[in-house]
Amino acid sequence: MKNIKIFPCPTAEEFTKEICKTLNLPVGKVENYKFANDNNFIQYKESVREQEVYLVQTTKPPVNERIIELLIMIDAAKRASAKKINVVLPYYIYSRSDKKDQPRVPVTARLVAEILEAAGASRVITCDLHNSAIQAYFNIPCDRITGQHLLQEYFETKGIEDKVVVATDAGSSKKAYKYSKYFGCPMALIDKRRAGNDDKAVAANIIGNIKDQTALIFDDEVSTAGTMVEAARILKEHGAKEIYAACTHGILCGPAIERIQNSPIKELVITNTVPLEKEKQIPKIKVLSIAPLFAEAIKRVNEAKPLGDLFEFDK
Ligand code: R5P
Repeated sequence: MKNIKIFPCPTAEEFTKEICKTLNLPVGKVENYKFANDNNFIQYKESVREQEVYLVQTTKPPVNERIIELLIMIDAAKRASAKKINVVLPYYIYSRSDKKDQPRVPVTARLVAEILEAAGASRVITCDLHNSAIQAYFNIPCDRITGQHLLQEYFETKGIEDKVVVATDAGSSKKAYKYSKYFGCPMALIDKRRAGNDDKAVAANIIGNIKDQTALIFDDEVSTAGTMVEAARILKEHGAKEIYAACTHGILCGPAIERIQNSPIKELVITNTVPLEKEKQIPKIKVLSIAPLFAEAIKRVNEAKPLGDLFEFDK
């Protein structure tokens, strides 16, 4: 690997360290602080001139602050003559605001893409987008890697018998189908209806057989855990033997931890695309590191090698 420097945004130090450790590279030196007037300041403490720069950012709340930090990092790299500015976003900021599905609402995921590009980003590497169309919001390369293989391998090593993959709604049925195909097991579908714009999920019925089976539920993200926990409750009511849940992005905000703790979910498996604070780390939650996969993506971009097998494709 050559002419490469990897820098963390302020909340991404852990994830960046893991990437750099995998690649056997030093973490780039950058200073950042806030002035008394709440303005942000950053300064690279080493030259980025003609370098391929990677800026890693998390979505640790407050996420709006994370956006401005990233924009300022991009701007500073651009003005310091970086050759390429690659943004590494393990979880794409505002990915759920991806379409104008009601009158007078924004498409903030698109807005984020536009401001990253306007600031000077030349590539974005992200993971399991809520809507794959977000990739097309960019006019620069946007690589979408997936946590799917990591989750699959984890469940494979558990050697669970009588599995059934359950989709929490019609929208996730395609994904559930892919997992069930991989495991060579049946799938079922929960007919879930969401009411209004709030975070409350309403689930209703099951299509398929889950009685005395071990249900595996996969989703792209678990946010307030309303969807997962409601799905688990219904599965338990309908006679599922055990319930495992998994997702790439464990956002786990609001009542999520309490809900998971008190739910029939035996284990929730997530990746570390979103940092999980200490107080949220409970025995029921297993975190798999996806940093080595990001490291591999960075290596391949730097060496101009294909990334295809790291991506999620809708075959
Ligand atoms: C929705 O479309 C997503 O795939 C997840 O189901 C959703 O983000 C989960 O949200 P919550 O955990 O708040 O129910």
